[in-house]
Amino acid sequence: MSQANGNSRGFWASRMGFVLAASGSAVGLGNVWKFPYIVGENGGGAFVLVYLVCIFVIGLPIMLAEFTLGRKTQLSPVGAFRTLAPKGPWVGVGYMGVLCGFLILSFYGVVGGWTLAYIVKSLTQAINFASPKEAGAFFGSFISNTGEVTFYHALFMALCVGIVYKGVHGGIEKACDVLMPTLVIFLLLLMGRALTLPGAMEGVRFYLLPDFGKITPNVVLIAMGQAFFSLSLGMGAMLTYGSYLPEKENLTSSTVYVVLFDTFIALMMGMVVFPAVFAMGLEPMEGPGLVFSVLPAVFSSMPLGGLVSVIFFVLLAIAALTSGISLLEVVVSWFIDQWGWNRSKAVLFSGGIIFAFGVPSGLSFGLLADAKLMGMTFFDHVDNIASNYLLPLGGMLTAIFVGWVWGPKAAQAEIEKHETEFHWAAVWAFLIRYVSPAAVACVFLAKFI
Ligand code: PHE
Repeated sequence: MSQANGNSRGFWASRMGFVLAASGSAVGLGNVWKFPYIVGENGGGAFVLVYLVCIFVIGLPIMLAEFTLGRKTQLSPVGAFRTLAPKGPWVGVGYMGVLCGFLILSFYGVVGGWTLAYIVKSLTQAINFASPKEAGAFFGSFISNTGEVTFYHALFMALCVGIVYKGVHGGIEKACDVLMPTLVIFLLLLMGRALTLPGAMEGVRFYLLPDFGKITPNVVLIAMGQAFFSLSLGMGAMLTYGSYLPEKENLTSSTVYVVLFDTFIALMMGMVVFPAVFAMGLEPMEGPGLVFSVLPAVFSSMPLGGLVSVIFFVLLAIAALTSGISLLEVVVSWFIDQWGWNRSKAVLFSGGIIFAFGVPSGLSFGLLADAKLMGMTFFDHVDNIASNYLLPLGGMLTAIFVGWVWGPKAAQAEIEKHETEFHWAAVWAFLIRYVSPAAVACVFLAKFI
């Protein structure tokens, strides 16, 4: 993004621009909304531990693989696989990425809409609660209101469409520069508040002390899916970002920065949510509504809580948008490359159908709450298929492609362009050829057998 004019901005500025843009894709609702609620649903500390193993053993090497594929081919996923392996089935991994972008954005847009609604509600002072129960009830009645939920869902999608329509250069990247540091300061502030609530320590214990009895194959599958989701891996989003990179960029250190930053934000978010949940006598198993019920209760207990609430949801909405556009961009670039559409037609069309497909996800907490298949709502199914199966599968195939088809030597040559030395090449090659694919395969096998 800023890389295009990297020479005028100097090496450091340009690397920061890229790291911030890629972090903009990685840091989003996955860290702030999803991570806490699935930690809560899957038993706390033990889940966090499995998640961290997945991040560093599976996610990190695959992120480097995606950046490298993108920079080498300067293309989006479908084109990248087609270029490097013109014959054979590998282009299918690119198609799977497009499908994944479609599915994830369909429900991501719904939750993005919730954040917009909570900005408005904080501004009109509706977010001021006497008790945590009240905050939960307020959220419950909001998400069952079909008209309101669909309106804000449409608004979020319209914002994504507007940004991708104009191109992602400029505004959003500058926004990321300010957003990320501000988000960290805010989370520190909230963490301070949450940890000083009476009874908070029980939440810290739930969050940090692993109870290994709670680890089942399904828990590991969900942790792995979350690692892919949070790092934006397995569907070509990071590949696409890598395609904007100039050759002098240091891919390995950029990868490490993005992974550490994303993980740091998620871990901090847990330190805000669980102390507050336990201090306020709420349930950690609450599900997708967890953060939206707990945080407003925390804000209400703070001086200037209304203002804090507005700023927090603005930050969260921007974080969600910078992730949403990376999802939309993968779908849009496929329409452009594959069908020869112009950008505006591709953006409007994909935005429209993704929104339409997302509507039943939005209604999954109201009108369609009882329409369950195997105990799960439409929202749950789309999330589960995309995050827990398609992303890890896409990531595994990407690892196999780079490790065995394109080859770690070719990848290393790309990484080392312009004299960046890759000291960990052998370790990375081992991880990408054996460890990451085998780990994903084992988790799938354990889940099905
Ligand atoms: N990583 C984003 C988040 O944590 C979601 C995302 C997933 C974005 C996959 C792009 C691709 O919110």
